[in-house]
Amino acid sequence: MQAVSSLSADRATRYRELGPMFAALFHGEPDLVANLANAAALLREALPQASWTGFYLFKDGGLVLGPFQGKVACVRIALGRGVCGTAAAERRTIIVPDVEAFPGHIACDAGSRSEIVVPILAGGRLLAVIDVDSYEPAAFDEEDARTLEAVAAQIAALDWD
Ligand code: SME
Repeated sequence: MQAVSSLSADRATRYRELGPMFAALFHGEPDLVANLANAAALLREALPQASWTGFYLFKDGGLVLGPFQGKVACVRIALGRGVCGTAAAERRTIIVPDVEAFPGHIACDAGSRSEIVVPILAGGRLLAVIDVDSYEPAAFDEEDARTLEAVAAQIAALDWD
């Protein structure tokens, strides 16, 4: 596996490196929790503007906290609630440049200023969401969205059953 410390400083280059890096990380390892734990860590390395990177898993009709990097977070989020629950319910990426302007935003960490949530889908089936928060306002853009959507597709291809 390529060392994480070899991630490039330039964002566009670094984001291009992520696909092969995630593939190498997951290669030959069937354990989902182990893979998601390492994925949360690699995302934290790759997105230096992030204060929190992690997963909420879709279980029994709601979202439950999964592997993450950052401060202690809310454990359960109902579909349709907050940024995570909205992205999950609508099965689409949501970029929130100002969390205070997002109706129903769930403040797990009062320091959070912006957020991006990307659903992990297998066909139409909702598996989880990737959640990334930042202490900086407007920390995420379309390039982050496209990059995290590609990561979500790689994670969707793991063994979820
Ligand atoms: N802010 C999220 C909740 C999850 S924490 O940020 C880790 C939301 O509104 O869904």
